[in-house]
Amino acid sequence: MSTVLVTGGTGFIGSHTVIALDKSGFDVVIADNLSNSKTEVLKRLHTICGKDFRFYKADCCKREELEPVFRENKIDAVIHFAGLKAVGESVSKPLEYYSNNINSLLTLVGLMKDYKVDELVFSSSATVYGESEDVPFTEESPLGMCTNPYGWTKWMQEQMLRDFSKAYPEFKIALLRYFNPVGAHESGLLGEDPRGIPNNLFPYISKVAGGTLEKLTIFGGDYDTEDGTCLRDYIHVMDLAEGHVKAINYLATNDTGINVFNLGTGKGTSVLEAVRAFEKACGHEINKEIGPRRPGDIAVSYASTEKAEKLLGFKATRTVEEMCSSCWNWQTKNPDGLPDDN
Ligand code: NAD
Ligand code: UFG
Repeated sequence: MSTVLVTGGTGFIGSHTVIALDKSGFDVVIADNLSNSKTEVLKRLHTICGKDFRFYKADCCKREELEPVFRENKIDAVIHFAGLKAVGESVSKPLEYYSNNINSLLTLVGLMKDYKVDELVFSSSATVYGESEDVPFTEESPLGMCTNPYGWTKWMQEQMLRDFSKAYPEFKIALLRYFNPVGAHESGLLGEDPRGIPNNLFPYISKVAGGTLEKLTIFGGDYDTEDGTCLRDYIHVMDLAEGHVKAINYLATNDTGINVFNLGTGKGTSVLEAVRAFEKACGHEINKEIGPRRPGDIAVSYASTEKAEKLLGFKATRTVEEMCSSCWNWQTKNPDGLPDDN
């Protein structure tokens, strides 16, 4: 049985990916410093998967904290989710973002090299396509200019991995560019649990629907789209999780070097369409108003999914309706999010 190290494995996408890996027969080890997640996730993973996963509370930037994971386990592949991801926060805290995201990757890759672990799946983002409006984005679309430090950290991490791959050709690396991951596990035990007021659309709508927030502001109603609101490629987090299993399987049986894949559905959904689908899922109207545009937003973003379909055999199957109903299930079962660590 292959063993996969999942860094950031108690986070939103990481925890759902642990479930998908376990279901596909992989042995999973988790490393996370809990800077944006809680140990309650481990209990919930136990309930869902019926087992405990080996967990290391480790900061990936600190070799002395991450090395025991490699020393004490025979790791075959790594999925690197650990990182800071809030676009707005990255503008006010660029030092933290560059330091955390760049150093964690450097430390991780250094350890992989020393311990001869040569398969890496890296969490990248459609944000690396920058402000281009030439959609759909294919893996060959031009990269940058990113609009914020978070985006640049992804762009730089991709470049670091390209350089690394040239120098160490035995490495197999998959750069997965996620579009907009949303939704929750069908059990309602795991989902997105942002601290404070959410920045992203689905967690925000969930809180308005649940009554914790008063009103959704739709950022801009005058874009050059059918209903005037922005289009995004929302992908269910369980589809995304299954995409990681496909990527791990692909690396195990394919060439070395860098492999880039978009993970999206290939379909754009407008903010208003998403709100309407959520209203259907929760059974009542969502308090909303159209406000000014949010700086840095592009009108339309969706993926070309051809390459992932052809080479990974990956196709997202869950609908926007399922994304909304799973979010609502998660929200109603956990109105205050997960309980804090004691
Ligand atoms: P998340 O914040 O829920 O999960 C990230 C996890 O990494 C958290 O549990 C956090 O505690 C941990 N972490 C952060 N820095 C760490 C460090 N130095 N050492 C150890 N653990 C650390 O975020 P997510 O939404 O699950 O995102 C996972 C990855 O996917 C991130 O790299 C993110 O940039 C990328 N991504 C996310 C989205 C999205 O919309 N959610 C889109 C594109 C890419
Ligand atoms: N939106 C609103 N109101 C809100 C929140 C969002 O109208 O309160 C709109 C935004 O203007 C945008 C859409 O909903 O049109 C989606 O916004 P999100 O903030 O949920 O997502 P983004 O597309 O801006 O960004 C996400 C991730 C980034 C990632 C990017 C590309 O947050 O980390 O997708 O993958 F880089």
